[in-house]
Amino acid sequence: MRLSQPTTLATFLLTSRFAAAAYTPVDTFTSTNFFSAFKFFTDPDPTNGQVTYLDLPTAATSTLIATAPQASNAIYLSLDSTTPSLPKRPSVRLNSLKTYNKGLFVLDLQHMPTGCGVWPAFWLLGTGATWPINGEIDIVEGVNNQRNNSMTLHTTAGCRIRSEGFTGHLDTADCDVNNATQGKNMGCGIRNPAAGSFGAGFNANGGGVVATEVTSQAISIWFWPRGAVPAELSPSSSSATTPDPSKWGTPVARFAGDCDIDAHFKDMQIVFDTTLCGDWAGQTWTKGECAAKAPTCEAYVKDHPEGLTEAYWLVNSVKVFEQGQGGKKVGRRERRRGL
Ligand SMILES: *[C@@H]1O[C@H](CO)[C@@H](O)[C@H](O)[C@H]1NC(C)=O
Ligand SMILES: *[C@@H]1O[C@H](CO)[C@@H](O)[C@H](O)[C@H]1NC(C)=O
Repeated sequence: MRLSQPTTLATFLLTSRFAAAAYTPVDTFTSTNFFSAFKFFTDPDPTNGQVTYLDLPTAATSTLIATAPQASNAIYLSLDSTTPSLPKRPSVRLNSLKTYNKGLFVLDLQHMPTGCGVWPAFWLLGTGATWPINGEIDIVEGVNNQRNNSMTLHTTAGCRIRSEGFTGHLDTADCDVNNATQGKNMGCGIRNPAAGSFGAGFNANGGGVVATEVTSQAISIWFWPRGAVPAELSPSSSSATTPDPSKWGTPVARFAGDCDIDAHFKDMQIVFDTTLCGDWAGQTWTKGECAAKAPTCEAYVKDHPEGLTEAYWLVNSVKVFEQGQGGKKVGRRERRRGL
């Protein structure tokens, strides 16, 4: 249907005015549907880690994943922590089949991989163009014995963020991976100042919920430890289907500023992975507490499978919400068609 100009413009204004309103659910991934909605990545680890990423059948027979529902009712993803003396350990990396541009991504975690040499990440990866043209949003990430979660964006040139509007600690402000002053591939990063937002402390507390909102204006991240999760994000809540980020207070990270989010972040897959050593955990080995255990990260993970028994994910759910039919996307599309 081709709308007349005045109607289209009116529709646009009307729909945009309510753009910040209601999020409605579009996808819910749990242990019952996860492995049909996510694909196993089996290429060599692009971050040069000491892992071999397995396909689904191999990961299932090696019991690195649980394809049947577990007692915990959670999605279980792990790596090899039993084979003695192994330079590259079997692990898994999974990408959602579906891609997203905007939305609210709510991760409910019971347990995240942790330990010396371990480098887990839950992230959004822009597809369809050479990295990092379509962007990368690292939501839960850290290495070795890290206790504070690192949240990072990686982009091409032309995306810098402001230092206000969030409670976290700004480490780097330029999201461009080629900014040599910051260091190659650093991107813009904000650290959660709360211990227990990552690693052993997070797990000891029964995990928590991390919500990431991607709009044209900002990429915002909130974190709540178990026990402090807003009622509307608790599975039993009746309002769980229409979360409202405007009620959640200042986020721990807010990436906004001199950055065209629409242009830098596109067609993003949801990704879970656990690697060992490599470009981050390996490169920083000698700087942390883990260095006392072995001269190099590679030597440690090769000979100490017993040190990797906490290197597993237990994911209750990943829920994706988008702004409803009254939302911005509809307004834009209608306008483009009409004018
Ligand atoms: C690179 O990053 C530094 C530190 O954030 C910043 O001062 C500098 O302006 C950036 N360089 C360019 C070319 O944007
Ligand atoms: C991690 O969190 C603790 C507790 O809030 C804080 O004292 C510490 O400075 C944080 N560390 C980093 C590296 O941000």
